[in-house]
Amino acid sequence: MTDIEPESFIADIVSSNVHEARISAIKEMAMLSSKVEGAASLAWGLPSFRTPEYIREGVSRLLAEDVDAGKYTLPDGLPQLRELAASRHKAETGLTISAEDNVLISAGNMQGLNTLFHTMLDPGDEIILTDPCFASHIQQIKLFSGKPVYWPLDEEQNWQLDVDLLPSLITDKTQAIVLVSPSNPTGKIFTREELMRVGKIARQHKLLVIIDDPYSDFVYDHKEKYFNLASVEEFKEHVVYLYSFSKSCAMSGWRLAYMVMPAELKREALKVHDATMICAPRISQLAGIVALSEPSDHREQFADILKSRRELICHRLDKASHIFSNNDPEGAYYAFPKILVPHTSSRDFAIDLLNNARVTVTPGSAFGPSGEHHVRMAYCVDEDTINLAFDRIEDYFESHL
Ligand SMILES: Cc1ncc(COP(=O)(O)O)c(C=O)c1O
Repeated sequence: MTDIEPESFIADIVSSNVHEARISAIKEMAMLSSKVEGAASLAWGLPSFRTPEYIREGVSRLLAEDVDAGKYTLPDGLPQLRELAASRHKAETGLTISAEDNVLISAGNMQGLNTLFHTMLDPGDEIILTDPCFASHIQQIKLFSGKPVYWPLDEEQNWQLDVDLLPSLITDKTQAIVLVSPSNPTGKIFTREELMRVGKIARQHKLLVIIDDPYSDFVYDHKEKYFNLASVEEFKEHVVYLYSFSKSCAMSGWRLAYMVMPAELKREALKVHDATMICAPRISQLAGIVALSEPSDHREQFADILKSRRELICHRLDKASHIFSNNDPEGAYYAFPKILVPHTSSRDFAIDLLNNARVTVTPGSAFGPSGEHHVRMAYCVDEDTINLAFDRIEDYFESHL
């Protein structure tokens, strides 16, 4: 026995930023859920799809043939993948960018964002996040001693942007505005008009707009409504666009994404990326080359399946209108209903639902202050799981209300 308390020793050496951070409620619920046998989980936005066969086969081939497949790549990624990313960017946005100057391959959008925040933030610097927003954006900013500034979305208008409010949130510490459209957790798509106004405000105040895009392949009824602010030439120096392979190619475990950014920012971000990551895993970059170079209709197939799951969950939420009120999601694969039954907090509600009804949802409070009294339900799971979850929710509240 020593006279040093191991716990207090660790507490002393852990940074206060880390000590105060929390693991995301999404993962917390997933971990709690794994301990409840047979729980029907709508917690984690992990689609049921398998990485498409042509990608898996292409990678096996390359692994067998490419003697360099197990080695590092250049810090900003394989030139061929960067060229393919630049071509995809041209096809999606109409803008010509340089694979050399503007593209950085990352190990997923989370690592890309982490690199960006690391590159940008001095203590106290501010990043504007929509509220609700993606939970991990909040944590990442705080880990770099930055300050998330919440920009409340308008729930009455199905969580649309309130652009009139934006200028009042900007201070001399503001660095950037982060947008996710279609949104996690609300499924909202922001309009061209709203986004153009955001772009103009960002340019006027010399800010970046960071577009975190895992979901643009999953837009349902109104495809024409989706607008990518990265397609506007006049905002090119103010937009960082992050495209993830995780959801669009069912490659979440491969950890692969690319960032398109102004050349000067890439030069700075590369220092961080090199010092912390060296490069995205080469094998995943090879998978990205296959994904972007071979024709495939898997994205449409995924979107069709997700669309019918969306119809199902909206129908089940409508039937449960004594428990939840819901705005129908327009894209991604999340519903974000408001809890109508008596409860203390969304976290207590979620834990109660897990323990007593064996249904896992994510508490809305994880997504910012406006998320309280809501839950996020990921409908990327199969239809049986959605039905089981709602059968159990209905049974539970029938006997408890
Ligand atoms: C908004 C948002 N950003 C980033 C991620 C993570 O993306 P990646 O797997 O590319 O790190 C997710 C995953 O759920 C997400 O919803």
